[in-house]
Amino acid sequence: MRSSSEERAAREQAIETPDVTQEPTPEAAPARVDWDAATAAALTEDNVAAPVQGAEPDDAPTPEPEASVSRETSTSASVEFDTPLANLVADEARRRAVLEQSDLPLPVSTRVFTVSNQKGGVGKTTTTVNLAAALARTGAHVLVVDLDPQGNASTALGIDHRAERQSVYDVLVGEMELGDVIQRSPENERLDCVPATIHLAGAEIELVSLVAREQRLRRALDRHLESMERPYDYVLIDCPPSLGLLTINAFVAAREVLIPIQCEYYALEGLSQLLRNIELIERHLNPDLRVSTILLTMYDSRTNLAQQVAQDVRDHFPAEVLKTIIPRSVRVSEAPSYGQSVISYDFSSSGSLSYREAAAEIALRGAPQPGKRS
Ligand SMILES: Nc1ncnc2c1ncn2[C@@H]1O[C@H](COP(=O)(O)OP(=O)(O)OP(=O)(O)O)[C@@H](O)[C@H]1O
Ligand SMILES: [Mg+2]
Repeated sequence: MRSSSEERAAREQAIETPDVTQEPTPEAAPARVDWDAATAAALTEDNVAAPVQGAEPDDAPTPEPEASVSRETSTSASVEFDTPLANLVADEARRRAVLEQSDLPLPVSTRVFTVSNQKGGVGKTTTTVNLAAALARTGAHVLVVDLDPQGNASTALGIDHRAERQSVYDVLVGEMELGDVIQRSPENERLDCVPATIHLAGAEIELVSLVAREQRLRRALDRHLESMERPYDYVLIDCPPSLGLLTINAFVAAREVLIPIQCEYYALEGLSQLLRNIELIERHLNPDLRVSTILLTMYDSRTNLAQQVAQDVRDHFPAEVLKTIIPRSVRVSEAPSYGQSVISYDFSSSGSLSYREAAAEIALRGAPQPGKRS
């Protein structure tokens, strides 16, 4: 039997050389959650339906399909229509109905996620913001910590993060408490945000000379959670695309790492370095840290490459990858310019639906068991 470090080394070696040249097999087709309205077990079993081939991945109109699909049939049986678009619409109607019927559990204690990937533009911020909004919509109390000097998560949540505002910088480098800088997002009354301002750009250097420089976010977050009558159910930390001290602070503050992976050729490049760093943090600074969740983002079902990359990632991380895949969607990319998540910007869009499904999957999977590895 191989030790966990041998397994990890083998896995890392394998992901360094992703094989994306072969044509996808039918099994390589992306998984779509076949939501079983009756039971949450639908998410824990291998319960996937074939994708709607040939359909536009994004923003199809969302009226009810022309054919007469009763509410009953839309949740239980898959109905075949004449056109890919009709099939897509029917499929989305069914998934939406299942979501509406699911009652999601709240975690027994706060789940703290770091959303990280040192690769830029893979959907970290988009995932943080939309998952947070989706979780808040299900009744959870959620905090987003924007740890990226770009401040994109703050913008997307409609939070004021001009330079003169107090921010996470004042907590990390100054003496402020987290509670002093938290703002409520107009998105949802259960959704709060610790904004990032441009000052954070200098924090990597300023932190170097500070005492307990890797622990500063962890300590501030712990103090704040302890002071709360009803602590947050979820804390999501949006990381910059680097592995510097800001990201290390996020890894030390979190229990779970969520890695968004873009379904593109270079998707797996650098992933082994990220995993090595997480292992180092786990060994030296935060033994509770686990890569609990991998989310495939910006998926375009029309390309073989996206299907192959998705399958490669699933092969390497079968336990961590969510069954839900986030499609490439114009609505998702438009939403931040209105200071909104895609959930409130266009609730019925495919991007909104997928992020709500991803949030449901995360809630239903629950936190990883202490000491248990996948
Ligand atoms: N599902 C999607 N469909 C279409 N566009 C998307 C999707 N997800 C993200 N985008 C767009 O891709 C770009 C990068 O996304 P995002 O900012 O979330 O990535 P990031 O990993 O946080 O980037 P950075 O590394 O710079 O922090 C943004 O313009 C965003 O609007
Ligand atoms: Mg970002």
